[in-house]
Amino acid sequence: MDIDMIERAYRRYARGYDLYFGGILQPGRRAVIERMHCRPGERILEVGVGTGLSLPLYPPRTRVYGIDVSPEMLARARERVAREGLGQAAGLCRMDAERMAFADDSFDKVVAMYVVSVVPDPGRLVDEMRRVCRQEGELYIVNHFLHPNPLVAGAERLAAPLSRFLGFHPNLDLEDFIAESGLEVAELRRVNAFGYWTLLRARNNKGPHAAAQRVA
Ligand SMILES: C[S@@+](CC[C@H](N)C(=O)[O-])C[C@H]1O[C@@H](n2cnc3c(N)ncnc32)[C@H](O)[C@@H]1O
Repeated sequence: MDIDMIERAYRRYARGYDLYFGGILQPGRRAVIERMHCRPGERILEVGVGTGLSLPLYPPRTRVYGIDVSPEMLARARERVAREGLGQAAGLCRMDAERMAFADDSFDKVVAMYVVSVVPDPGRLVDEMRRVCRQEGELYIVNHFLHPNPLVAGAERLAAPLSRFLGFHPNLDLEDFIAESGLEVAELRRVNAFGYWTLLRARNNKGPHAAAQRVA
């Protein structure tokens, strides 16, 4: 999938997104924001913020910046911020998370909810998350990875050719992802119905070794 395909997919999804993916994925959003232990004044970046379903969950005095490539998804996030008066939403803008315009070390914490298997290059996404997060900050990911049960995983692999239509890759392998991204994982736990999604917390181990590890 490239960015144009992603934009097309989420143009289609935007109208019904909250109805289909709001409630079912909300426990994972809630779990990751609880794990983030956001403190007043902290600068948080949420990549692929979508329609902003997570925004009301952040504590009021944090400063949350959200980016997304889909104008239609962002428009809904902006409506939510205005409707609910969400002062913690410090800024929403259209930006590719694989090529962010933010300076190095701009944020205390960076989070991606249900985005890793959507972007064209998950490794590049993680490199960018690491770059814009300060050293010793934290990175958080909630995502679906290939199921540990071989039967379910087989079905997910079969669905892989549909990724263009689905708007995400159903066959991303967790161990490969961790190895290739060089993430220093501090915590892994299962979230949402049947534990079908994974919450990952990582220390920001940026430095020359991280991107180099991926290339090696
Ligand atoms: C499955 S939705 C998740 C939205 C939101 N995080 C949530 O919890 O509902 C994936 C989102 O990632 C966005 N996205 C995909 N690729 C992106 C990229 N390279 N940069 C920024 N946003 C991206 C899509 O437009 C979409 O809004």
